Amino acid sequence: MQISNYHTQQEEIACTTIMPTRMIPDMVDDVRQSLLKTPRSLSPKYFYDERGSELFDQICSTPEYYPTRTENRLLSKYAIDIIRKTRPDQILELGSGYSTKTRRLFDACEAMSQTCIYAPLDVCEEVLIESAQKLSEEYEWLGLNPLLGDYHGGLGNLPASNGSHLFVFLGSTIGNFERAEAINFIKEVYKAMRYGDHLLIGVDRVKQDNILHAAYNDAQGITAEFNLNVLHVLNRELKANFNTEEFTHSAIFNKNKERIEMRLISNTDQNVQINDLRESIQFDCGEDILTEISQKYTYTGIEKLLTEADFSITDHYQDEDAYFSLVLASK
Ligand code: AVJ
Repeated sequence: MQISNYHTQQEEIACTTIMPTRMIPDMVDDVRQSLLKTPRSLSPKYFYDERGSELFDQICSTPEYYPTRTENRLLSKYAIDIIRKTRPDQILELGSGYSTKTRRLFDACEAMSQTCIYAPLDVCEEVLIESAQKLSEEYEWLGLNPLLGDYHGGLGNLPASNGSHLFVFLGSTIGNFERAEAINFIKEVYKAMRYGDHLLIGVDRVKQDNILHAAYNDAQGITAEFNLNVLHVLNRELKANFNTEEFTHSAIFNKNKERIEMRLISNTDQNVQINDLRESIQFDCGEDILTEISQKYTYTGIEKLLTEADFSITDHYQDEDAYFSLVLASK
């Protein structure tokens, strides 16, 4: 009998907390800044409480929401090529969530008998621990170093380590930044990397209006529910009294700015109290809150984003319809 095996299976996974390199406003200040002035807006990061994360997962499997499926297919197809070209000692993922698509990279490592360390960075400790536990069972050879932190606070405090790094930023999360902010963020990623390191980024492309529109207005109404869920988050976190029945989901493709704009529109004239802000808001019928932007990029736009930050593009992978891009770049 090998008693020691009982112990190794139960090994605890702990997160390393990443301190921000610059001040980021807490929810009270942030919401005060963005919601009390017009045009009103909210940061999309407040979508993701437990219910919001569940709803986002459901969006990803609606027939209309092509980005997740397309990116996963690209990863399945090109992971071996990516691992061969980057030979990472460490894979560091920004906004890892449940690390579903990242598994394609681990599969490739496994197929090539290459071990590495996975350092997922996320804001949610429960999600980090739960996924790290599952990953350690599925990929016994994978070293795990979960990092608890918010990349909006800067990347200057990421742990230093030897060897080559593959940074990954998937799902077109870059789309939540305005163009100028996106360049600044990519520059920050560049600064956090060492020469010879690589970045793998997933970016959603500009395409036909109707395809984009459908992806953010699914027939089952899951995206609508996801959008409205942010009001439940405000009710709970800031003791507000939004009535979600009095708001309507809207998602339009702004052709000029090449981005999806998601809003909540007030159905009536109404007054909403936000206790923790000691404020109330008067919404006129038709008045809206901008809850998310999802910037789409042309291939030229992606090139510009990366080269302005001094990256060299190593490879570009796209599906046959050019709906989604996976770009591998190096410092
Ligand atoms: C996670 C920001 C990439 O913009 O497509 C999906 C979020 N919002 N449906 C996106 C989202 C509504 C998603 N990102």
